[in-house]
Amino acid sequence: MSWLQHGVIRHELTARDGTSVVFREPKPSDAKLLMDFINAFVAEPMSGLLINKRVHLKAEKVWLRGWLADIRNRKGVMLLVEADGRIIGNCTVSRLVWKISHMADAGIALSKNIRGRGIGEALLRETIELARKRMRGLEMIQLKAFDYNERALDLYRKLGFVVVGRIPRANKEGTDYYDDVLMVKNLKEFEKTGNGFRDQPM
Ligand SMILES: CC(C)(COP(=O)(O)OP(=O)(O)OC[C@H]1O[C@@H](n2cnc3c(N)ncnc32)[C@H](O)[C@@H]1OP(=O)(O)O)[C@@H](O)C(=O)NCCC(=O)NCCS
Repeated sequence: MSWLQHGVIRHELTARDGTSVVFREPKPSDAKLLMDFINAFVAEPMSGLLINKRVHLKAEKVWLRGWLADIRNRKGVMLLVEADGRIIGNCTVSRLVWKISHMADAGIALSKNIRGRGIGEALLRETIELARKRMRGLEMIQLKAFDYNERALDLYRKLGFVVVGRIPRANKEGTDYYDDVLMVKNLKEFEKTGNGFRDQPM
């Protein structure tokens, strides 16, 4: 079914420090704003993200077109944070395929100047809720974070993700290596076994 219109969700959020932002779904004209948003992470050391090369508008348009199709087809959800005509945050949940299609990957990023105000938590909560509603049969969400990224790891734990593994030295920044920490959140309630996972030692 591909009946979802672009940008069904759009509303204001006031952060705990009074900052006002808009949470909304993406639309086809967002490519330039999204490109500017993601390219700002390239110059940030230990940004928490994979990106280390600027993306160009042509590639960003292709990426966005693919995402809009996935949203229409309920393979994924994306919420953006907008303020003063700029995109300053993005959160995605993206269904995996075939035998792991009951699972999805999640990712989140906020521009540097709006971190630590509760916006990331609100954004991740709302994106997961949207995924639950739209993506039928979704049972589990996984995400990865570099081990230096305490803010992200804390946020994910707060929202019920548990550590299930780690890939040693998966991230190389300059000459330094960092581990990748794999976390999952089980969306199904198992009455007898709790959430079905135990937090593994970090
Ligand atoms: C990770 C990120 C999404 C968190 O969003 P945020 O808006 O900064 O976080 P919030 O203000 O909503 O805080 C939510 C929780 O995160 C944790 N947290 C926030 N700031 C923290 C800090 N400086 N140190 C450790 N934990 C922190 C806390 O558990 C906090 O809950 P609390 O407010 O009850 O203490 C955001 O900082 C970000 O985009 N960082 C850069 C990109 C990135 O790392 N993305 C994730 C890749 S895995």
